[in-house]
Amino acid sequence: MADRYVSVAEPILGEAEHENVNEVLDSGRFLQGPMVEEFEKKWANYVGTDYAVAVSNGTTAIQLVLKALGLEPGEEVIVPSLTFGSTATAVVHQGGVPVFADIDRELYTLDHTDLERCLTDEAFAIMPVHLYGHPAEMDEICEFADRHDLYVIEDAAQAHGASYKNQKVGSIGNVGCFSFYATKNITTGEGGIVTTDNKAIAENLRMLRSHGMADRDTHITLGYNYRMSDLNGAIGTAQVDRLDGFNERRREMSEYLLTELDDLDWLEPAAVRSYVDHAYFWAPFEVQEDKIGMTGKEVWAELRERGVETRHRYNMPLYDQPVFADHRGFNSEFPWSANPNDHDYDLSLPNVEKIVGSMIGLPNHPGLENEDIEYVIETIRAFDPEDS
Ligand SMILES: Cc1ncc(COP(=O)(O)O)c(C=O)c1O
Repeated sequence: MADRYVSVAEPILGEAEHENVNEVLDSGRFLQGPMVEEFEKKWANYVGTDYAVAVSNGTTAIQLVLKALGLEPGEEVIVPSLTFGSTATAVVHQGGVPVFADIDRELYTLDHTDLERCLTDEAFAIMPVHLYGHPAEMDEICEFADRHDLYVIEDAAQAHGASYKNQKVGSIGNVGCFSFYATKNITTGEGGIVTTDNKAIAENLRMLRSHGMADRDTHITLGYNYRMSDLNGAIGTAQVDRLDGFNERRREMSEYLLTELDDLDWLEPAAVRSYVDHAYFWAPFEVQEDKIGMTGKEVWAELRERGVETRHRYNMPLYDQPVFADHRGFNSEFPWSANPNDHDYDLSLPNVEKIVGSMIGLPNHPGLENEDIEYVIETIRAFDPEDS
């Protein structure tokens, strides 16, 4: 048995969250209401956009955005090949076709030099993901999008509070999508939000999230029920106030881990660009299998035995996932069948193939004590075959 167990993620809730939730419970009104509205205002203000529209989760945020922007069946959205599946399943849910770009070898985010290969006449949008909390290379991506008249949808589900050249993620593209799932930098349990400066898009999103109703009686378009309840909003509005503090602590612990483990040749810390503020959703490291003789998965399992929980994802390029590789859409090949291009995903993109399966994220959440971090360092150093 290990001396202790250091977890990799934990929601941190305080008095304000409890008080807000109790206020909603006492009001007897749990629907989307004043707490969600307050949360939206605070989030827009925090990110630096004119509008924020709260929804039920990060996946429905992406779906609603694609619908609000007017994606037509068979149109294409360029996404990175290394990310959580719903970056791309959300595209399929809206009748679109994901086109998989390679990732930057050092940052693991969408590789802008691969955009030209991905471009077709059906291209509608680019969806960079600020993976593990590090912003994607937004200047180059936005410049390419401008040149080809494409929308930029930031998938910022892993990057609350990160910034790129002094601009918060979620305020750089046409829209930003966030998730407040329980393991994220801040949480509402389940929840999501869209940020934008565009009033028409924001209004469209508000209507679409609530059954496409223009008023109590009229469904003017095909909408959804993707609302956030005030119970979740009550947690969110309290969490926003704590995000900078949480991120500061994440940064401190992650940078300490990166420095203390820098000399291990089998554990390569991820690169961080000088012009970003990393949100450190993960403290990401690449396991060098050829140096330690173990796969990322074996390291993850062994560290867990020794009381250190790590994240270990993503273990398959998205283009190999059966849902995409086998064109599993709406019980048929729709939406691929609505697309004139031949999208067999028999891809092998060099950078993602190198990285896949080798990433681990070390514990860095703000609920950890310094002793926990020391334990992580000791455990990993003891694990080094050259040291033991
Ligand atoms: C990059 C990315 N996109 C989208 C999502 C979807 O968010 P949710 O789980 O809230 O639906 C996640 C969630 O984990 C994610 O990591």
